[in-house]
Amino acid sequence: APLPEEIRDVIAPLTGLEGPLLPMLHAIQQVWGHVPQAAVPVLADVLNLGRAEVHGVISFYHDFRDHPTGRHVLKICRAEACQSVGGTAVAQETLARLGVDWHGTTADGAVTVEPVYCLGLCACGPAAMIDGRLLGRVDAARLAAELEAAS
Ligand code: FES
Repeated sequence: APLPEEIRDVIAPLTGLEGPLLPMLHAIQQVWGHVPQAAVPVLADVLNLGRAEVHGVISFYHDFRDHPTGRHVLKICRAEACQSVGGTAVAQETLARLGVDWHGTTADGAVTVEPVYCLGLCACGPAAMIDGRLLGRVDAARLAAELEAAS
């Protein structure tokens, strides 16, 4: 886990911003791939906020994760347009096959599955993304194959 000093170094350049919490969280996640527990007291201290407040912001925004991800991140769109063309079933089948729930990571550390709310591919739903690569018209078999190919 990062030391408080290391976290302070990362957020120090952002202290002058108006509304610095979100940029700081992004910066921390950029460096460590997630927002480590150790960041909460540091942010609370630097920004003069309660720890619960900082924690609340981290859990409110889907972009932030409070634990490290697997080697690959699969995002499955859960917004309206994708749901209406079978996205829910694709997600359920995929989660069941991987044996995880949303935000979960497979036991071998290979894949983390996260929900996303519109990837801008609504016309080609169900949409998904693997490690930042957009995929349209996916089904569970295709996602399985793509994950296999990525690992
Ligand atoms: Fe899924 Fe827009 S609703 S990409």
